[in-house]
Amino acid sequence: MSQPQPVYLSDYQPPAYRVTHTALTFDLDPARTCVEARLTVERHPDAEAGTPLYLHGEQLTLEAVSIDGEPLADDAYRQNDKGLTIDAVPAAFTLETRVRIAPEANTALEGLYQSNGMYCTQCEAEGFRRITFYPDRPDVMAVFRVTVIGDARREPVLLANGNPVERGELDGGRHFVTWEDPHPKPAYLFALVAGDLACVEDRFTTMSGRDVTLQIWVEEENLGKTDHAMASLKRAMRWDEERYGREYDLDRFMIVAVNDFNMGAMENKGLNIFNAAAVLTHPDTATDGAFQQVEGIVAHEYFHNWSGNRVTCRDWFQLSLKEGFTVFRDQSFTADSNSSALKRIQDVAFFRTAQFAEDAGPTAHPVRPESYIEITNFYTLTVYEKGAEVVRMLKNLVGWDAFRRGSDLYFERFDGQAVTIEDFVGCMAETSGQDLSQFMRWYQQAGTPEIDAHGEYDYVNAEYRLTLRQRTPATAGQQAPEPLHIPVRMGLIGTKSGHDLTLTLDGEKRGCDTVLHLREPEQTFVFTDVAEAPTPSLLRHFSAPVKLHFPYSREDLAFLLTQDSDGFNRWEASQRLAMLALNDLIAAHRNGVEKVMDSRVVDAYRTLLDAPAADKAVLAEMLRLPSEAYIAEHQPLVDVDAIHAAREFVRQSLGFALRDAFETLYRANQSDEPYAPTPEQIGRRSLKNVALGYLMAVEDEAGIALCQAQFDAGHNMTDVRQALTLLVHSGRDDLSAPALKAFGDKWAHDPLVMDQWFSLQVSRPQAEVLDRVKYLMAHPAFSLRNPNKVRALLGTFAQNRVNFHRLDGAGYTLLADAVIELDRLNPEMAAGLMTPLTRWRRFDDTRQSLMRAELERIKDRPLSANVFEMVSKALG
Ligand code: ARG
Ligand code: ZN
Repeated sequence: MSQPQPVYLSDYQPPAYRVTHTALTFDLDPARTCVEARLTVERHPDAEAGTPLYLHGEQLTLEAVSIDGEPLADDAYRQNDKGLTIDAVPAAFTLETRVRIAPEANTALEGLYQSNGMYCTQCEAEGFRRITFYPDRPDVMAVFRVTVIGDARREPVLLANGNPVERGELDGGRHFVTWEDPHPKPAYLFALVAGDLACVEDRFTTMSGRDVTLQIWVEEENLGKTDHAMASLKRAMRWDEERYGREYDLDRFMIVAVNDFNMGAMENKGLNIFNAAAVLTHPDTATDGAFQQVEGIVAHEYFHNWSGNRVTCRDWFQLSLKEGFTVFRDQSFTADSNSSALKRIQDVAFFRTAQFAEDAGPTAHPVRPESYIEITNFYTLTVYEKGAEVVRMLKNLVGWDAFRRGSDLYFERFDGQAVTIEDFVGCMAETSGQDLSQFMRWYQQAGTPEIDAHGEYDYVNAEYRLTLRQRTPATAGQQAPEPLHIPVRMGLIGTKSGHDLTLTLDGEKRGCDTVLHLREPEQTFVFTDVAEAPTPSLLRHFSAPVKLHFPYSREDLAFLLTQDSDGFNRWEASQRLAMLALNDLIAAHRNGVEKVMDSRVVDAYRTLLDAPAADKAVLAEMLRLPSEAYIAEHQPLVDVDAIHAAREFVRQSLGFALRDAFETLYRANQSDEPYAPTPEQIGRRSLKNVALGYLMAVEDEAGIALCQAQFDAGHNMTDVRQALTLLVHSGRDDLSAPALKAFGDKWAHDPLVMDQWFSLQVSRPQAEVLDRVKYLMAHPAFSLRNPNKVRALLGTFAQNRVNFHRLDGAGYTLLADAVIELDRLNPEMAAGLMTPLTRWRRFDDTRQSLMRAELERIKDRPLSANVFEMVSKALG
C-alpha cells in the first residue's frame, strides 16, 4: 500500500469547474443502493479550456457515465481508488453518472450507511465522495434536488434537505419523495434519512413573521424524550435572532436521532443528523450534564445554519472559521440561558485539561493547520475549542458592538460563499478600525503560550508594577514562535480592605477591571495611585487560552477565594489553592514521606462551606478538586500513581475534617420536587452530589447509607448515577455488585443508559478494572461498531489513569488491540481512541517504552490513513 500523502494549505487552487445544479436519485437497498446523479457543470471563467474534470469518488461501483446524454467511451475517462478524471469536456454541460453502493457494509459511518436498519448519511468532511462522483470540496456549491425511493413499509419516512416537493407510490411496494433545497450548498451539507421513524412537531415564528415547522425524528420508543431538545431549539432560534440578527431561512427544520454516529451531530442544511445521545433526554435516563449537553449541541448545529452553511469554508484548513465561531456562539447561548459563571468554569476546566494536553503532544497543530493527511483527524479540541477562545478574544478586543457589526458584515458580504479566516477577521478589523495582524498569529501558531507574571508594590510612590513575560513553546511545525497579542483581563484587590481598587494606568482611570494588551515578549504595566498593597486577580474569565504563572501564596489564594469580585476567579483561586496542596502531596508521595494535609487549605474550604453562596453550582465547582488529568497537565513529568494518591488523600482529608459540614450541605440541598433541568435545580443537585462524594470518601457507614438511599430512591438519573458511581468506586463490592446488577437489568433495553452503565464501571480505581473491560467487551449490549459504546467502555478506560497506565503495560496492550481491530471497521473512531497512547512522552521511562512498543506494534499493521497519521506523528 502506498503511504498516504499530506495536503497543504499553500497548495490551494480554486476549482476549475463549478456545479450549479445537482439532481440525485437514490434507489435504496442495503447491499446495492443505486445512485444516479445529474450535475450541471460550468468551467470557471479563469480556467483554461481543455482542463480535465476531476471528480472525487471512493468505494463506488460505476455503472454508467455520460455527458449531455452521450455515454462516454471507455478511453474518455480514467478511474482510480480516489476518483475519476474526464479529459475533454465542454465549457458547460450536463454530466450523468450511475453508481452502486452498499450502505449495510459501511462501518466507517461516513457516506450513506445503516444504523438500526435506518438509512442515514454523514458527509462532512469528505463523505459525499462515497455516495457519488462529485467535486467534493466545500468551495463547490450547488442547488440540490433529491429523490429518495424506498420500501413503503420498511422506510415509510424518506427525508432530505430542504422542502418536499413531490411524493408518490411506485410498483413493488416502493414509494418516493422528492426534496428541493433552494440554498446552494457544498456536498458536505447533503443529507438523506430513510426509515421507520416517528416525529414530534412544533412551530416557530421567525422575527419577520415566517412560520417554520420544527420536527424531531426518532424511533417510536423515544418519542417521550424529545421535549428538552425541542425547547432548546426554539430558544436557540430566538437567541440567534436577538443576539446576531440571524433568521431561519427554510420552511422546515428537522433533527433526526441515530444510534450509530461518530460525533455529536451534523448541521446538514434543514436536516440536522444527531447522535441519539445528543438529542434524547428524560429525567429518568439522562443526567443534568446530558441535558446541558443536548441544549448546547442543538444550539450549535442550529447556529451553523449561518456560521457554516450560508457562509461556509473555502477549504478544510479553514474549518475553525465555522467551528470556532459556532462553538463561541453556542457557549454564549448556554451562558445566557443558565449560570454564566458556571458555563465558563466548565468550559475552562475542560479546555485546560484536554486542549492543553493536545497542544503539548505530538498531534499539536495551529487553530488553522497548514497540512493534514486525513481531515477527519482535525475535528479537534484545538480547531473547535481553542478556535472558540480565539473568537472570544477577538470579541473582547474589539468590543461587542464592533464584533456584532463585524458579524453582520461577514454574513452580508459573504452570503452564499466559501471563504477564509482572513475574511472573517478582516470584517472585525474593518468595523473596529483595529489592526489585527499580530492577532492572526493565534490561528497560525500551535502550543499553549505561558505567561510569567510578577508584581511589586511600591509603598512610597503608591505604585504597583506588574510585569508579564510571554513565551510559546516550540512545536513540531514551529521552531520559533512569535509573540502573540494576548488580552489579560485583571483587577487589583486591596489586601487589607478586601475592596476592588480603581486602576489608573498611564494616567488613565480604568475602573476596577481592565484588559491589558500584552504584545511584546515582556511588558511592565505601572498602576499609579494604588492606595494599599494589592493582591492581583489575573486572567479573569480566562481572557486568553494561556497558562499564567504568578507566585501566589496560600494566603493570597485563600483571600481571593472569598474576596475576588470576579466569580470565575474565585473558582480559579480554589483550583490554584488545591493545586498547591496537591503538588506538596505529590512530592511527599514520591519521596516516601508521610502525607500531611495543609490546614490552611482545610480552613479555606471550611470558609466556603460556612459562607452562604449565591450560586450553588459555582460553589459546587469550587469544592470539586482538579481532576487527575488536569493535575497531570501541570506536571513536567506525569507521575500517575503519585497524582492519584495525592488527590485521594486530599479528598479523604477534606471529607474527614469537614464531614459534618458536608452532611449539612447534603441535607440542605435535598429535595423531592419534580425534576426540571433549571439552573437552580442543577446547582442544588450538583452541590449535594459533590458533598456526597466527600461523605463517601470518609468510608463510614453513615455516608454509605446516604448514598445507598439516594440510589434506591431513584429520583432522577443525576442522583442515581452519582450514587451508583460512588458505590462502585468505593470498592465495597458487597454494595456495588447488587446495585450494578439492578441498574443493568432495569435499563438493558436503553442503549444510552447502558453507555453510562459501561463507563461508570471502568472508571473505578480498583485494579480488576482491566479484566472488567475485557469481560464487558463480550457483553451483548457492547459493540465495536457503535461509537457510543466504544467511547463509553474503551474511551473511559483510557481516561482511567491508574488502570490504563498500569505498570505491566496491560492497559496499553488492551487499547492497542482495540485500535487495530476498530481500524478495520471505523478509522475515524480508531484514530480518536488511540489518542492517549500518543502522549507517551509525558510519562516515566518505563511507561514510555511500554507505550512506544504498542505504537510500534500498531504501526506495523496495514492501517487506515487516519491511524497512520496519528501513529506517525506520535512516533515521529
Ligand atoms: N460539523 C459537525 C459539527 O461540529 C461535525 C462534523 C464532524 N465530522 C467528522 N467526520 N468528524 O457540528
Ligand atoms: Zn460544528
